[in-house]
Amino acid sequence: MTEASIEDLPGVGPAIGEKLRSAGYRTLESIATQTPSRLGEAAGVGNSKCAEIIYAALDMVNIGGILTGAELLEKRQTVGKLTSCSSELDALLGGGVETQLITEFYGQYGSGKTQIIHQLAVTVQLPEEQGGLNGEAAIIDTENTFRPERIISMAKALDLDPDEALARIHVGRAYNSHQQMLMVDKVKQLAEERPIRLLAVDSLTGAFRSEYIGRGALAERQGKISSHMEALNRFADEHNAAVAVTNQVLSKPDGFAFGDPTRPIGGHIVGHTSKFRIYIRRGKAGKRIFRLVDSPHLPDGEAVVQILEDGIRD
Ligand SMILES: Nc1ncnc2c1ncn2[C@@H]1O[C@H](COP(=O)(O)OP(=O)(O)OP(=O)(O)O)[C@@H](O)[C@H]1O
Ligand SMILES: [Mg+2]
Repeated sequence: MTEASIEDLPGVGPAIGEKLRSAGYRTLESIATQTPSRLGEAAGVGNSKCAEIIYAALDMVNIGGILTGAELLEKRQTVGKLTSCSSELDALLGGGVETQLITEFYGQYGSGKTQIIHQLAVTVQLPEEQGGLNGEAAIIDTENTFRPERIISMAKALDLDPDEALARIHVGRAYNSHQQMLMVDKVKQLAEERPIRLLAVDSLTGAFRSEYIGRGALAERQGKISSHMEALNRFADEHNAAVAVTNQVLSKPDGFAFGDPTRPIGGHIVGHTSKFRIYIRRGKAGKRIFRLVDSPHLPDGEAVVQILEDGIRD
C-alpha cells in the first residue's frame, strides 16, 4: 500500500527494524495501528519511544487523523464486495461480503458456516465483473474441516479450473488458539507475495472455548479473542480484504431469551468488532435462513439460501 519502509520511521534503525519485522510488523500500517506497549514488547524499546514511532507512522500513512465526511466516503468507495453466489444473501449484505471489515457467520453445527467459507474462497478468485475480488484466499482452519473436494465442485460450477482454484487457496491448520493467533502473522507474510483478498477463520472461537474453561478463565479468553479480532480487522484494512469468521452458538435451553434461544459464543467482544453478523439457521426442505443482525448501515433482514453440491445458491 505504502512505498516507504518501516526503517524510514525516525528512531527505527536496522536493528529495531529487524526486530519489528521478525515480530510481524512489516508495513507502516501495522505499526501505526499498534499500541505503544505491544510495539515495545516487539521492538525491545520503551513505551514513550514507541509512542513517537507510532505517531510518525500514523502521519506517514495518514490514518488515526481526523477525516472529513468526503474523505471517508472516498475510503468507502474502495470497499470491495464479494459475492456469495446467492443473490438474496448478497442483497442482504448490501451487495456482497464487504472488504475492510469482519463478517461473522454464526449458527449451530451443520448450519452451513464451513460451506459459506468454502464458497467465498472460490468466489474471491473471480474477476470483479463477476462479483469476485480477483484474488486469493487464506483459511485458518481450526477444526480440520477444509475439504478440497468441495472446492473442486464449487470451482467447476463457476467454470474455474479446479486445480488453479485450489492453488489459490492457502490453508493453515491451527491446532490450538495460540497457533490460530500466530497464523494471522503467517497470512500477513503470505499477503506480501500473494494477492490475499479473503482471510477466513473457521472457527474463530472453537479453540478458545475448549481451552479457557470456567468463569475464572473468561476474562483472559475474551482478551485473547479481542486481540485476535483486532489483528484480523487490521488485516482487512491493510489489504482491502474481506475477513470472514465462523462462530458457534451457545444453546440456551432455559427459554429465557425471546426469539431464538441461542447466543453466539464470545459475547459482546466478538459482536462489537465484527461489523456484519449473520445468524444462520436451518429452514424447511434443507434450506438455510441467513439473518443480518445489528448492521451499522443496513436494515436487519433475512435471506433464504440452499446448500447444493455446486455451492451456495438462491
Ligand atoms: N456436497 C454437498 N452438497 C450439498 N450439501 C452439502 C454438501 N456438503 C455439505 N452440505 C451441507 O452442509 C451441511 C454441513 O454444513 P457445514 O459443515 O458448513 O456446517 P457448520 O455450520 O460449519 O457446522 P459446525 O458448527 O459443525 O462446523 C451438511 O449438513 C449438508 O447439509
Ligand atoms: Mg464448520
